[in-house]
Amino acid sequence: MDKFVVRGGNPLIGTVHISGAKNSALPCMAAAILTEDEVTLENVPRVRDIETERRLLASMGAQVELHAIVTPAGSPSSSAYESTSREHTTISCRTLTDPVARYEIVKTMRASSLVLGPLIARTGVAHVAMPGGCAIGGRPIDLHIKGLEQMGATITQEHGYLEARATRLRGTQIVFDKITVTGTEDLLMAAVLAEGETLMENCAREPEVADLAALLTAMGAQIEGAGTATIRVRGVTGLHGARYRINPDRIEAGTFLVAGAITGGDLIVANCNTAHLGAVIAKLREAGARVDVLGPDAARVRSAEKLSAADISTEEYPGFPTDMQAQYMALATQADGVSVVRENIFENRFMHVQELVRMGANIKVEGSAATVRGPSQLSSAAVMCSDLRASASLVLAALVAEGETIIDRVYHMDRGYERFEQKLSSVGAQIHRMGNVFAPRDEKSSPVSQPA
Ligand code: EPZ
Repeated sequence: MDKFVVRGGNPLIGTVHISGAKNSALPCMAAAILTEDEVTLENVPRVRDIETERRLLASMGAQVELHAIVTPAGSPSSSAYESTSREHTTISCRTLTDPVARYEIVKTMRASSLVLGPLIARTGVAHVAMPGGCAIGGRPIDLHIKGLEQMGATITQEHGYLEARATRLRGTQIVFDKITVTGTEDLLMAAVLAEGETLMENCAREPEVADLAALLTAMGAQIEGAGTATIRVRGVTGLHGARYRINPDRIEAGTFLVAGAITGGDLIVANCNTAHLGAVIAKLREAGARVDVLGPDAARVRSAEKLSAADISTEEYPGFPTDMQAQYMALATQADGVSVVRENIFENRFMHVQELVRMGANIKVEGSAATVRGPSQLSSAAVMCSDLRASASLVLAALVAEGETIIDRVYHMDRGYERFEQKLSSVGAQIHRMGNVFAPRDEKSSPVSQPA
């Protein structure tokens, strides 16, 4: 298993470029199921979860191709960012020979449940393995199922698989008992081909929902209110292909903003969407970091002489994101005073705490709250990743720890951070990977039209 070796002490100085949002690309790839035409997505990050979704779609009979930009020999070498950001992924679900989401794939990525709604909407049937839980919680999909049943699907469960059938889904009113991001996305994709109008209330307002809705609208769907708590959909009889550029990853951007603050650096986070970073930027400023918004797609973070404790309580968007909780906790270990970190979204999202404590942090967990006393001088240790964002927290801690930290099971990081160690190294971090660099198979690196 790959490991990261990180030597702490270097401030991060320079500019990092943010990749496309994994949590937008995943539902957008699933949306291609809704049409026989080709869907082209730009700015899809090259991360493991995307590779998993590609395999899942291919296993059903879809053609998914990643078209890398081939930079002609001798031309000024475009930066790695420019080339991957100008790649595009084409998905054609013209023939879905086997509309089954098999457990072997679903167990590695619970977001596979995002194919449930589109499969029923497109084919009238879906066999989807129930996603297991994961490190951060039980992760049920009962609200996805409840909404689909309200739209007329009959859903049975046996041998760990959901079998869903519907001649044609019917528009209806759905009020989510809890705010669920992929639940909103799944039912949105089901509703766009349903008969009549669907009114969805208590929806997730995360930007990834609006990203998906923008793609669906480009494909011919009729949607109002995406990004708000109330979404209205008028069903259509069919959708056509489209080309769409995925928004930047707000969690990757937030992670790098914390990296700049925790290392006392001067870091520009470019190609992000600062409109999606309000809660994170406000909290970093409250903790004493200097954050300047340079425009709609860039922010600069510099650390003040000392960081001060500030509490966080994770909430649905636009509140402080649960996906930034672990990263912020690493920062809180360096802040002067007591920071209370409340995790309100998932029941087990403190897996990083014990690893941070092993590095010298002073953190006590009681129920859904962790009390962090700082500043602590962190020291290097052998630590282990448990989930995607906990991994990022350990890297951030290692960047300020005294000595060389070995971080094991970094495949968790590869799920959602593109070229993480390369991006960190490019701004001064002493980090390298022991093992094989993760690079998803180039589905088809066909030479595309000459780069602009
Ligand atoms: C999405 O997960 C993200 N994943 C998660 O990011 C993110 O942490 C989460 O939203 C919250 O923002 C993707 O978008 C692929 P939820 P999702 O449904 O949709 C409960 C990362 O790090 N719930 O909004 O699965 C659930 O247990 C990942 O990139 C039900 O009870 O999360 C949780 O307590 C981790 N029944 C709460 O709702 C349901 O049917 C919010 O979950 C669905 C959810």
